[in-house]
Amino acid sequence: MDATTPIQLEDVCYSYGKGALKKQILFDITTQIESGQVVILTGPSGSGKTTLLTLIGALRSAQRGSVRVLGHELLNASERSLIKARRQIGYIFQSHNLLDSLTIHQNVQMATKLANLRGQEAKQRISSVLERVGLGEHEHKYPRELSGGQKQRAGIARALVSRPQVILADEPTASLDKQSGRDVVELIQDLAREDGSAVILVTHDNRILDIADRILHLEDGHMKSIGEVVSEGTSRMLNLLEKHDPQTANYLATFSFALARIAYADGIVHDSERDEMRRILHEVAQLQSSEVDFIMELSMMLKRTRSGVDERLNKPALDERRAEHFLDSMYAIARADGKVTGEEVEEIDEIAAEFNLFEEIHNSKKDGESHDEH
Ligand SMILES: Nc1ncnc2c1ncn2[C@@H]1O[C@H](COP(=O)(O)OP(=O)(O)O)[C@@H](O)[C@H]1O
Ligand SMILES: [Mg+2]
Repeated sequence: MDATTPIQLEDVCYSYGKGALKKQILFDITTQIESGQVVILTGPSGSGKTTLLTLIGALRSAQRGSVRVLGHELLNASERSLIKARRQIGYIFQSHNLLDSLTIHQNVQMATKLANLRGQEAKQRISSVLERVGLGEHEHKYPRELSGGQKQRAGIARALVSRPQVILADEPTASLDKQSGRDVVELIQDLAREDGSAVILVTHDNRILDIADRILHLEDGHMKSIGEVVSEGTSRMLNLLEKHDPQTANYLATFSFALARIAYADGIVHDSERDEMRRILHEVAQLQSSEVDFIMELSMMLKRTRSGVDERLNKPALDERRAEHFLDSMYAIARADGKVTGEEVEEIDEIAAEFNLFEEIHNSKKDGESHDEH
């Protein structure tokens, strides 16, 4: 384990309550997060995400294991050392937590004071971070004068103004619409990359999984490897597709994964692409929207982990009709957002090569022609 690794957790256990009311929430959590990494923490509601984040953020103390953040051991640390550690961490809360009686500038200024930044330097940092989050013109307004998205961005500015090496964000997009949610997350990602910070972002939002360098998954307080999640997910998906079309479940799995790959070939899944995918998979296998979303989520995780499902899926048999439909469907997804990008074309070519789509179509055409001559 490298001493410069900003976040190191080892066998972390946490319980709320005492005596008969004691309830263990986190079980033997071990992981580490490097500088410049954006890690997304997912898991069902109540699985312990916020609790884990507050342990790393020095807002509470674990009872067992080791929580090392920026070189400080937080287990059994004194309140004073916890406060000290807290000042080096940028914490973005689910709600913005701004003080209503202070302007946006003053709210951000509080964070610079805690970080011992004063005078001209502090002033410049505040202006530049507010500029960066798109609030340059609103510096002297009060929180009530801003929209939800703007307030959330002010919260981000406050957390990031001191350029913390560790950034913790607890569902920062929960109260935002889709586009502002995406913007906020990309902003955190950009700022983190610039400063080489380690980021943990808790989210329920499957649409932003693709920005993560790594995905951690909590279930009932246990960290599950993404491999386990993907493996369970793959079985679930195959069962799902078998229910709809047992003969071709294997083909459908391959086909749906391919469509999902096209949908996020350029890094963003637009709603129009998602809708097109829902339309096609409904037509082919009567899948419901939520089932299509599940496939989308699963294939994003697969892409992240690069763990192919190839071992589980046999190469499907494709006749000409299917090959053509496969290719057409991929183009339909690529076209859905109004433009076909280079990345999408590349991805289509790659998939077409993997499944010999062009040859299949070409050969069938040839067969057809030679039959005609007879
Ligand atoms: N202050 C608390 N006291 C007692 N139990 C709590 C407290 N906060 C959270 N819990 C419980 O701990 C579990 C995990 O909660 P939390 O970490 O907030 O999960 P998540 O953020 O994944 O939704 C839940 O069962 C929740 O009810
Ligand atoms: Mg939570």
